[in-house]
Amino acid sequence: MTEPTTFSAGAAPGALPALGHALHMMRHPVDFMTSLAAHGDLVEIRIGPTTAYVPTHPELLRHVLTNDRVFDKGGVFYDRARDIAGNGLVTCPFADHRRQRRLMQSAFTRAQLKRYAEAMHAEIEHTASRWEDGMVVDAFQEMYGMALRTVGRTLYSTPVSPELAAKVERSFDIVLNGLFRQMFLPAAIRRLPLPSQRRYRKNLDFLHHTTQQLIDAYRSSDTERDDLLAALITSRDEDGGRLGDKEIHDQVITIMAAGTETVAGTLTWVFYLLSQHPEIEAALYEEIDTVLDGRPPQWDDLPKLSLTDRVISEALRLHPPAWLFTRSTTGPTELAGRPIPTGSTVVFSPAAVARYEDAFDRPTAFDPDRWLPDRVTPAARLTYVPFGTGARKCIGDLYARTEATLGLATLLSRWRVTCEPDMDIRPVPLATIYHPRRLHLKLTTRPAAS
Ligand code: HEM
Repeated sequence: MTEPTTFSAGAAPGALPALGHALHMMRHPVDFMTSLAAHGDLVEIRIGPTTAYVPTHPELLRHVLTNDRVFDKGGVFYDRARDIAGNGLVTCPFADHRRQRRLMQSAFTRAQLKRYAEAMHAEIEHTASRWEDGMVVDAFQEMYGMALRTVGRTLYSTPVSPELAAKVERSFDIVLNGLFRQMFLPAAIRRLPLPSQRRYRKNLDFLHHTTQQLIDAYRSSDTERDDLLAALITSRDEDGGRLGDKEIHDQVITIMAAGTETVAGTLTWVFYLLSQHPEIEAALYEEIDTVLDGRPPQWDDLPKLSLTDRVISEALRLHPPAWLFTRSTTGPTELAGRPIPTGSTVVFSPAAVARYEDAFDRPTAFDPDRWLPDRVTPAARLTYVPFGTGARKCIGDLYARTEATLGLATLLSRWRVTCEPDMDIRPVPLATIYHPRRLHLKLTTRPAAS
């Protein structure tokens, strides 16, 4: 990456009165974010009534992400995300973060992940076993259901009843969809008793209530467990401090919200990208058949499924699920030589840097092999931030990669998955991700791999 001596600043054209760039962001989330680099290394946009600054140069973005005291969680996205996740690890401010992160870390060690891999495997198998030869399924809905049940099972060990899982899935859908729109609405409109606002609130209340019931039932049972919730409940810091009851509640909702649509979105885009690259798809089936030889994948297989991992990495680059986060500045600062007053909104979008030409050869191409150890460059590593970076980097990155790799390997070892030609890949944005408007998958049984 060439080191610029100075960074340029500009403004995105096309802001509409009141809405700003909201329509562009809703209709073309990633294209909009990618297009900003043409206007400068730091670009001013409008999210509804709010002015926000988007770093489009990887070094500026890194500066923002690694200075979490000045660029603290806040701004239009996180202010609304607190409706859902309270003061959990994703949303909490700098002042609470170090303590929470230390207490959460023990739930995301490699040893824990190895245990979760078994729960993940059970849920993925459950999905693969429900499929029938010739069946056509909606890619995102199917992956969403699988990811939600998986996160539920890693949290509570036992599977959540299908009826409750379906209700929670619907409510999460409404709330996460709603959150995206809430970001663009002025506070006065958010407070109006409109049907959409009432629906959002009702489903939010249902999610909080159900989460608390599940935690209470869990705590009152005598069963010994070694799942994610047990790790959160038993975690202690050096001073013997622990997560309080409200904090546990917020962490559970945070994990469900952060760990579901992100993984589902990733797998959905993988299926689409494979359909456009038959030679990579064929190599992937071959890797899966060779490594697994017809048996289900285990934790120890993960390092051997290297193309599977590269396919996931590249899908995360081209279609970063978590495409829009915000920060709020806690004091006067400067970016790209421009003064940024206290309380300004700064946007973190992995999509704004993911196609950065100085870091990626043919940046728009789907090329999983760019992640081969002898091809990957330091500039590519620095620019690749689908999981963020710095102290607020995703705590679930390895969890997500484990689930996506086990998911892809299990499903493709048993099924030939082809995208139906009626696909419409215009993006539909949700709270943290966007998925194709229509992507149906046709499933054909594969003869057992020899
Ligand atoms: C492909 C899947 C995923 C992607 C792309 C992703 C992306 C991200 C990103 C970009 C951040 C940083 C946000 C920011 O800086 O504002 C983040 C934070 C976080 N993610 Fe993920 N995530 C994924 C899956 C997961 C999973 C599976 C979990 C939990 C099981 C999870 C839990 C969290 C938590 C708790 C944080 C907050 C970390 C902190 O502030 O210390 N994520 N994620």
